[in-house]
Amino acid sequence: MKIFIDTADLEEIKTACCWGIVDGATTNPSLIKRAVDKRGGKITLEDYIPEIIKVVPGPVSLEVIGVKEKEMVKQAEFLYNKFSSYGKVAIKIPINTCIEKGGDEYEGLRTVKQLADAGIPVNCTLCFSPTQALLAAKAGAAYISPFAGRLDDYVRVNLGMKSGVDFGRDDYYDSDLMKQILMREVNLKEKGTIAQLYVDSAKGSAAAHDSGVYGGVELVKKIVTIYKNYGYKTEVLAASIRNARQVMDVAEAGSHVATIPFNVLNEMIRHPKTVEGIKSFTADIVPAYTELFSKM
Ligand code: E4P
Repeated sequence: MKIFIDTADLEEIKTACCWGIVDGATTNPSLIKRAVDKRGGKITLEDYIPEIIKVVPGPVSLEVIGVKEKEMVKQAEFLYNKFSSYGKVAIKIPINTCIEKGGDEYEGLRTVKQLADAGIPVNCTLCFSPTQALLAAKAGAAYISPFAGRLDDYVRVNLGMKSGVDFGRDDYYDSDLMKQILMREVNLKEKGTIAQLYVDSAKGSAAAHDSGVYGGVELVKKIVTIYKNYGYKTEVLAASIRNARQVMDVAEAGSHVATIPFNVLNEMIRHPKTVEGIKSFTADIVPAYTELFSKM
């Protein structure tokens, strides 16, 4: 699985690139804001973005700020033409930019298609369902970004769990455990006809999934399966990753890429038994062994 770093912070990017584990980077307007704020607003993105692109060995995703097809195409071409001479660039286009009820929900998809036809690699972002991912692949996206963490938040909140009280932002959400809890509830209440049981169970579990998807990891798994079924070339780029266990799950699911924040990369390297092991190995070094290295 390729690892992209999910940040616009140049120091974090440089540090992680030195570890030899970075294949690309993803930014979004919020990550750019964080980088700008950290520097007291004293950066010019025209100079700052090339610095990022020059350090990262693979594609750096840059997001458009418009919501209409024409402006998104223009902005994407601008970003691509301005920055791709420094290294690899992908342009992030939201799958559906429509906010108003009854508005045009296909501005994003049409933009993906136009850019793909022009040979500009698109990272189709803000994906929350396998069907959105299917449409993005058909329109020619190079990457699809399912937002695993944010989908976990959505499902947990729909279940009545309170963010900051019942779960923290970076907590792993075990949707399989939730399914087991739901089954136990169904078994406890079991009475009535099959039809009644089905209707009650379906009602009872409705809040636990989003159109049949129980959590972010499952979202990634389903998209990987659908793409494999039909040989789509679009790469699954698991995004909105909040913890190391999610990274493990999306890697197991066969995600082509995971874009990982700096704090989660740090979590991935740590294990208390590794610390214990290095302490005991260090304590056991006998003088004869140290002597050997003096011959270097
Ligand atoms: C990257 O492509 C996404 O924009 C990012 O992973 C979103 O992460 P968040 O949900 O933690 O903000």
